[in-house]
Amino acid sequence: FDAIEVIRAKRDRQQLSDGQIDWVVEAYTRGVVADEQMSALAMAILLNGMDRPEIARWTNAMIASGERMDFSQLRGPDGGVKPTADKHSTGGVGDKITLPLAPLVAVYGVAVPQLSGRGLGHTGGTLDKLEAIPGWQANLSNEAMMDQLSSLGAVICAAGSGLAPADKKLYALRDVTGTVEAIPLIASSIMSKKIAEGTGTLVLDVKCGSGAFMKTESDALELARTMVDLGRDAGVNTSALLTDMDTPLGLTAGNAIEVAESVEVLAGGGPADVVELTVELARRMLAGAGITGVDPAEALADGRAMDVWRRMIAAQGGDPDAPMATARESHVVTAGESGVLTRLDAMAVGLAAWRLGAGRARKEDPVQDAAGVRLHAKPGDTVQAGQPLLTLLTDTPEQFDRALSALEGGYSIAPAGSAEAGTFVRRPLIIDRID
Ligand code: URA
Repeated sequence: FDAIEVIRAKRDRQQLSDGQIDWVVEAYTRGVVADEQMSALAMAILLNGMDRPEIARWTNAMIASGERMDFSQLRGPDGGVKPTADKHSTGGVGDKITLPLAPLVAVYGVAVPQLSGRGLGHTGGTLDKLEAIPGWQANLSNEAMMDQLSSLGAVICAAGSGLAPADKKLYALRDVTGTVEAIPLIASSIMSKKIAEGTGTLVLDVKCGSGAFMKTESDALELARTMVDLGRDAGVNTSALLTDMDTPLGLTAGNAIEVAESVEVLAGGGPADVVELTVELARRMLAGAGITGVDPAEALADGRAMDVWRRMIAAQGGDPDAPMATARESHVVTAGESGVLTRLDAMAVGLAAWRLGAGRARKEDPVQDAAGVRLHAKPGDTVQAGQPLLTLLTDTPEQFDRALSALEGGYSIAPAGSAEAGTFVRRPLIIDRID
């Protein structure tokens, strides 16, 4: 095979053969196909698409580039085989759901091997959030991960470099070549990692809206259906929710502040949307693992999920009681008029949090633990002129101007008494389901 021939085929809207796909993914991973060739191919795929058999083959080639994990013999403290369930979100702003969800599901005897990533761009990363907890370590050996899964049932850690290395390389390339937002590439990227991880059940949270890769419901649904099919074909019990990402999830976007909000949820409180999504995803993960007739909200209310959280954090070197970092500087954005907040744009808030230091511009950059944005109102809330809408937090106040410019035009208030204020209805958090 020849890279130029494969690029030309996709450029000319042809279907790639199994042999072409296997070869190009493998040769790229080995460095035989150059970055510039793979970026041309990724752009041709973004523009011309791939059909389902091509996507399935591409996904399998990425899985074959690395190792596969096996949890099928995982045993609990009583010696019984433990089912496994995992959740994957396609990425959003304020999406801290993994933090309360993993310990919550583990309460019911299901093992949750949550291999997570770091943020890039305006979306946050679970590992960056957890690293705001003093002492907490993201990197575990496979043995340590297995031990923690059998003793506690929940682990959130970095994916080892052996899992789908083709995706690691390709994702970094797509990130700098404007080729992230391609359904075949997103679906194969996510599902190659999840299938290689070897979870028994997988629940996908496909985000839809301004702060998500998929802006429209029809694109999000197509991505969800593609991933569900890939999972089921590989023997993973897969289902999906389509959820709103026009506005941030919860009342925080950042690192330490998102951990604090997750701890509120684990203590039986926290914002209603974070609780709703955590409980719904938990119910689905449990049902996939064969556990029905339980109400996961109870384990948030009675402290059982908090108990697993504290042990999970401590097992990875973290101190669950340590005070979290607080930002050196803050700036409050107030409502210019009274009325109903009809829009608080997830992308604007995500960009502001990123510029304040919660995210990184390059892979190797550090993030600020305390940076981020605190929301004081959500779409649908009534606000008074002069009341705080957002608090911007950072250790580097020279970034306030850039964060404020990201927020320009990022929210709308319908004046009190106007028709719009009277009739505004927020899109439901859970837009659709694939069972
Ligand atoms: N998350 C991934 O892991 N891969 C993508 O391509 C997009 C989001």
